[in-house]
Amino acid sequence: MPGKKSDTQHKTATIEHCLQHCRTQDLQNVLRIATEAAVAAGAILQERYEQPHEIHHKGAIDLVTEADLASEELILDLLQDSLPGIKILSEEAFSSYDTVPEEPVWIIDPLDGTTNFAHNFPWFAVSIALYDRGKSDVGVIYNPIQHELFCATRNGGAWLNDERIKVSEIFSLQNALVATGFPYDIQERTDSILAMLKTVLTHSQGVRRPGAATLDLAYLACGRLDAFWEIGLKPWDTAAGYLLVEEAGGILSDFTGSPFSPFIPELLASNTLLHNDLTALLHGFTTVIA
Ligand code: IPD
Ligand code: CA
Ligand code: CA
Repeated sequence: MPGKKSDTQHKTATIEHCLQHCRTQDLQNVLRIATEAAVAAGAILQERYEQPHEIHHKGAIDLVTEADLASEELILDLLQDSLPGIKILSEEAFSSYDTVPEEPVWIIDPLDGTTNFAHNFPWFAVSIALYDRGKSDVGVIYNPIQHELFCATRNGGAWLNDERIKVSEIFSLQNALVATGFPYDIQERTDSILAMLKTVLTHSQGVRRPGAATLDLAYLACGRLDAFWEIGLKPWDTAAGYLLVEEAGGILSDFTGSPFSPFIPELLASNTLLHNDLTALLHGFTTVIA
């Protein structure tokens, strides 16, 4: 297609701009490695997207496809070859954790939006973060259908392809476009999830449920969404987006406004300006026992 940039061109452009703002050589190296892995895995997803899928159930409505596994295998190989010795938390192969890691760890969602992918609904992404002692230092989210590569390094800003991004300036909930998502155990807590939805729906301009939490956070970071909330997310859903939103000027917390961690079960993220109004609406729904 004339004028269409290849994955490699996007990757190079983004890395060069984002790298210029990296604080250290170590972070530069990590960003290069994470970006290469995300783009390569994204190419696998894109290639498999319109093929028939092998679909297995992890739960009643929780799916895994052959593409989740192929993407994960490639990412793990690339990360472990490039930086051996860093621990891994990854949705399909290495998903168990008892405590919050105290050493650096790669946190990986090889295919965020599996339900969309399985239905040929073109909305999914790869997400890779390097998380260290309570913060993500590098975050990369790649949407292979739209060729959009989001990345951030701590204190180095957030980027979409070769442009720096920031959150929106919407300050009134009535003018805000807000996203949410639903956990796979929704049948066990339908009432509270619908009550939260009703509350935000009736106070905002609109609520979207696109189906990939990593992209919800990336879209908040670049101002296409103004806020996002969900319960029951896992570290691989949020670790990269956490950094993108913070580096773009946004804020993440639990529903009471207390600091967020990818290891807690609720997330409220916004462009900062809307945060007080949203915590006022959602604090009664908090699921966190501090
Ligand atoms: C899911 C998506 C979805 C969110 C779910 C996640 P997966 O991740 O991010 O938007 O609502 O809570 O589990 O299973 O597609 O990687
Ligand atoms: Ca996910
Ligand atoms: Ca996934």
